[in-house]
Amino acid sequence: MDHVTLNNGVTMPILGFGVYQVGPEETHAAVAAALDAGYRLLDTAAAYGNEEAVGAAIAASGVPREELFVTTTLWVQDAGEEHTLRAFDASLTKLGLDHVDLYLIHQPFGDYYSEWRAMEKIHAQGRARAIGVSNFSAARLLDLALNNEVVPAVNQIETNPFHQRTEYHELLRSEGVQIESWGPFAEGRNGMFANPHLTEIGAAHGKSVAQVVLRWLLQRGVVAIPKTVSPERMAQNLDVFDFVLSDADMARIATLDEGGSQFFDHDDPEMVRRLSTHRLG
Ligand SMILES: NC(=O)c1ccc[n+]([C@@H]2O[C@H](COP(=O)([O-])OP(=O)(O)OC[C@H]3O[C@@H](n4cnc5c(N)ncnc54)[C@H](OP(=O)(O)O)[C@@H]3O)[C@@H](O)[C@H]2O)c1
Repeated sequence: MDHVTLNNGVTMPILGFGVYQVGPEETHAAVAAALDAGYRLLDTAAAYGNEEAVGAAIAASGVPREELFVTTTLWVQDAGEEHTLRAFDASLTKLGLDHVDLYLIHQPFGDYYSEWRAMEKIHAQGRARAIGVSNFSAARLLDLALNNEVVPAVNQIETNPFHQRTEYHELLRSEGVQIESWGPFAEGRNGMFANPHLTEIGAAHGKSVAQVVLRWLLQRGVVAIPKTVSPERMAQNLDVFDFVLSDADMARIATLDEGGSQFFDHDDPEMVRRLSTHRLG
């Protein structure tokens, strides 16, 4: 498995496994199968309600902890230093771990300056080997990076062939922030899996659309965390290290960019209101 090196020297697998929208009952089997298939990077979040199941699958797998790279994420309601420290402890307890490899702020809303100060402490204690953010726009990311001690190691943002964010990626790279793609397949929206360009490129390499998309991300140095509950697709999504997309393939994929989210815009006032007030049960 290829790795990237984060801005604090920690290495992270470039390809992992995400468990958004996988119910707690299904999660144990999915994570067990993913570990079995060879995934070592796992991405969960307090908001997904499945940290316990992820932890149980890790414990049952027998995979040595040091081989794993476990990420979890803080929800907005846990803003404030004290709340953040408590939320982090709750996540660790649910995961059954004494540290995570990456702890992220899930959304760029609320009192994230306080959250970041608490996360800097957690990081200094070695309880999160790296800390980062998710869904932060350029302005918010730069503001946080410029006015705090620790520069976020990662920004986990929607990135896929329909929403490529090339300029923003360049900025993040120049600031030393690793880009991690969520929604690499846009959850199949906009006909991703039947897209004729991606299908043709895949056929030429003997690969599926999903494999082309993941390979495209990897060749751009972007960490990807595709989700699937199918063991066959887990294996397929990992099998992307034996081919290379040509410059012509990459240029063709560049033409698919639609310049906007396939889901929603984090700057949309309605979404700011909704996400800022959403509380976990
Ligand atoms: N920070 C954030 O705000 C945020 C937001 C969204 C997601 N994420 C993270 O990013 C991860 C991935 O994003 P996502 O789950 O939204 O979407 P995604 O990975 O783009 O798409 C998942 C969908 O693609 C299907 N799929 C997976 N592999 C396939 C293949 N080889 N062929 C055909 N279909 C395939 C899955 O179906 P099956 O399961 O039926 O196979 C599922 O419906 C999440 O799990 C989560 O960890 C973070």
